[in-house]
Amino acid sequence: MAKSVSITHGGDNLLSSVAALNGRVFDTDPVIAYMLLDLSREERLAYLPTYWSTLIKSALLNDAIITEADGWKAASVLVPPGRYLDNAWTLLCAGFLGVLWRIGYPGCKRLWAEFSGMTDNAKRIGLRGHKRYYYVFSIGTEREHRGKGLAKAIMQDHQRTAQAANLPIWLEATTPGSRALYLSMGFEEVEEIVLGKGKVAADATLQPGGPGIPLWAMVWWPKSTADSSS
Ligand SMILES: CC(C)(COP(=O)(O)OP(=O)(O)OC[C@H]1O[C@@H](n2cnc3c(N)ncnc32)[C@H](O)[C@@H]1OP(=O)(O)O)[C@@H](O)C(=O)NCCC(=O)NCCS
Repeated sequence: MAKSVSITHGGDNLLSSVAALNGRVFDTDPVIAYMLLDLSREERLAYLPTYWSTLIKSALLNDAIITEADGWKAASVLVPPGRYLDNAWTLLCAGFLGVLWRIGYPGCKRLWAEFSGMTDNAKRIGLRGHKRYYYVFSIGTEREHRGKGLAKAIMQDHQRTAQAANLPIWLEATTPGSRALYLSMGFEEVEEIVLGKGKVAADATLQPGGPGIPLWAMVWWPKSTADSSS
């Protein structure tokens, strides 16, 4: 099925399309909900397009590649090797201060101390010292088009790109379903990370003593044995 999927790539010109799509497809994503924990559900849903627009703008300032499938039924944001989303300058230029203002000090702690701290640690283990890798910042398929092989086709496109550069791909799966998809495509699980342990349930609703939100740090390695990438 994946063979018949049409894939196109772009950059800045696709910002609003991918931000709008992400706002819809990540509406119940527990990790995003946890980052925006202090907002009510309605406030969060209304804020999601702005949140995504800011983060993707920052990714684009880091030369991110936007990939869409079958006329915007699915799309991804891929950050190329050597570029990082936590680049303070590009975050600033993308308007991230507005996001910080919206999520407040507790949100900043969740984003940096928890999410970035834990995923950076997983990267140190999982990337075995490799500094250059592709990062799948987001991938999502519109609800009515799920299960048709669109995310798989996009990910296969990323695997071809990474294979050609002989570099690994890094991502964090935020749902058991996406974890299953990536495992089926040859990704290895590096570590299960738990956010908000003791504070929230798995769906990010407040729950004192709750189990927290699991996410899975994962890496895919190119097939080549040549290794000039670290
Ligand atoms: C995860 C997501 C991107 C999958 O998109 P999709 O286009 O439906 O996925 P595909 O149709 O390409 O699925 C490819 C494979 O993954 C499997 N898969 C997809 N979603 C799955 C799920 N929820 N549970 C189990 N397996 C799943 C499919 O069965 C399929 O396997 P097959 O090739 O053996 O048939 C989509 O469900 C989504 O947008 N979710 C919300 C956003 C999200 O969680 N993004 C990922 C964040 S890391």
